[in-house]
Amino acid sequence: MKILVTGGAGFIGSNFIRLLLQETSHQVVNLDFLTYAGNLENLQGLEKNKRYRFVKGDIRDRKLVERILAEPVDALINFAAESHVDRSILDPQSFIQTNYFGVAVLLEACRKTPVKIYLQVGTDEVYGPILKGLADEAGPLNPSSPYSASKAGADLLALSYHKTFGLPITVARMSNNYGPFQFPEKLIPLFITNAIADQPLPVYGDGQQVRDWIFVEDACAGLLAILEEGQPGEIYNLGGGNQRTNLEVTQFILNELKKPKRLIKFVADRPGHDRRYALDSGKLKKQLGFEPAADFENGLKRTVKWYLENRNWWRRVKSGKYLEYYRTQYQKRIGL
Ligand code: NAD
Ligand code: TYD
Repeated sequence: MKILVTGGAGFIGSNFIRLLLQETSHQVVNLDFLTYAGNLENLQGLEKNKRYRFVKGDIRDRKLVERILAEPVDALINFAAESHVDRSILDPQSFIQTNYFGVAVLLEACRKTPVKIYLQVGTDEVYGPILKGLADEAGPLNPSSPYSASKAGADLLALSYHKTFGLPITVARMSNNYGPFQFPEKLIPLFITNAIADQPLPVYGDGQQVRDWIFVEDACAGLLAILEEGQPGEIYNLGGGNQRTNLEVTQFILNELKKPKRLIKFVADRPGHDRRYALDSGKLKKQLGFEPAADFENGLKRTVKWYLENRNWWRRVKSGKYLEYYRTQYQKRIGL
């Protein structure tokens, strides 16, 4: 199969491309705009692979997308997005543009040049806070942030193209990923890299918010199962089944790095902060036989080790434009 991966230079997309090239015989075209979050270093070593091709471009560029699909391509998996909730509070427009309008462009292009499967990569955040129990695929959509609202819109738009135009659309809704190559603005890599540098770990509010963590290699294996065997028109939740409070995660990172508790700084809460996410991934297990393999503590240990061993990668990433954002908008908001 020839697969168009959009947003393949980001965290999950780059892990997914590595999995495709290592574990399958599929050909890969990676279309990525290389925003602040896209980084070709994440794909280092793959450039010479004859089954891999990189195209720098925007999913909102209709002509470019149509040209790539006309090559032709068998499958499309869309990772391309603005992905950080805090940034969506500062600048909602760019989220609506990429996450919603960008998906509209991809879908229209697929009407012109059909693919065998279009997998829209979505998030559990579309269900909003799940104070008790687990969210299954039939649960109501109740997004709290411009990020999750734009992702909910994308899921619905994609599914409407299945119902109305018969496009082979599948949606995967993943829980919080963690692992190598995650941009250090998200909780786990930010706290690991700050702790290594003896910088404060800014915990929002009381730190009792719960996220359901999945190791990125498991998430990618689950996405591959959905891409290869998922049914058109279906939504599949893909969660790790590891619910932890932010403070539990923070304490684990400090212990692992043998750093003192005093690095924890309680800061202003995130507006619209969802208290708890928890996914029911039973459908994926029952219908496609997929279950994540990694145990959370073991996955987090591997992640800490990766950031210890790849300081040049995150030091570069944490400089330049990112530092500007971190020092002005981010620190100002949390009052650090
Ligand atoms: P990321 O921010 O690390 O990567 C996003 C990638 O998309 C970057 O390489 C960026 O350059 C690219 N991109 C952005 N705008 C683009 C555009 N207009 N055209 C082409 N490329 C563009 O994100 P991630 O954490 O790897 O997340 C990937 C996908 O998974 C996103 O759709 C996100 O909503 C979803 N998701 C992420 C998580 C998580 O925990 N990280 C959980 C659930 C779902
Ligand atoms: P994040 O990694 O941004 O993922 P998401 O908001 O998509 O779940 O945040 C994970 C949790 O960690 C979330 O409850 C917000 C919290 N958080 C902090 O407490 N401090 C921080 O500096 C960041 C980035 C997140």
